[in-house]
This record gives sequence, structure tokens and C-alpha cells, in this order.
Amino acid sequence: MSDGPRLVYVCEGGDCSEKGSVELFEELRAQIHDKDSGNKSNIRVRKFPCFGGCAHGINVVVYPDRCFYSKVTAADIPEVVASLLENGKKIERLSGKVEKDVEQITFDLLTTGF
Ligand code: FES
Repeated sequence: MSDGPRLVYVCEGGDCSEKGSVELFEELRAQIHDKDSGNKSNIRVRKFPCFGGCAHGINVVVYPDRCFYSKVTAADIPEVVASLLENGKKIERLSGKVEKDVEQITFDLLTTGF
């Protein structure tokens, strides 16, 4: 794992935004900021155009952790924040919903830059 920032990407594609991803992005960012106001954890929350797992949205990807969370709702945000800031554990119940190649393409893309 690199020493760079951890990046949390929230999909802002059509399907995910219809399910509320824009609001989820804002809320996730706000809750991370509340719990880590000095940003000691070096987490950046970003928008992503579309991961290609649209049927399973809202999709949220954590890089370089290789977490691909699907069907994320506002109710899941505290658990995602705790995972990012406190326990570092992957949230299994939100994982593994998209096809493996969708995950792989996403991680490859994030590794090589886009
Ligand atoms: S719209 Fe979110 S993965 Fe495509």
C-alpha cells in the first residue's frame, strides 16, 4: 500500500445519482471531516464518472484499499467512515456485488491513472 492519500470515489453516473449519490458524496465528506477535522488520515473524497456496475449502485470505491462497495445508502455512511478512520476493516456486506471484471477494471484504471 502506498503512503499517498486514501481516495474514496463516489459514483456520480446517471444511475447512481438517481439513487442519491450526490447527496451521499456530500454527507460522506461531511462525516469524515467531522471525525477527522485536521485530515490526519489523509483521506480524499472524490467523484467518479461511472464504474460500470450501475445496477448495483450507489457504488463507492476505496483506493488503494481495493474496496468496492455497492448498494451504499446514507444509512451505511457511519460504518464506511468507521472503516476508514477507525478499524480499517473492509465491509463485507457491501462488497462483492459487482462482477469481478468490473472491480478489476476499476482498480487497474485507478492504478494507472485516468
Ligand atoms: S452509474 Fe454508478 S456505476 Fe454506473
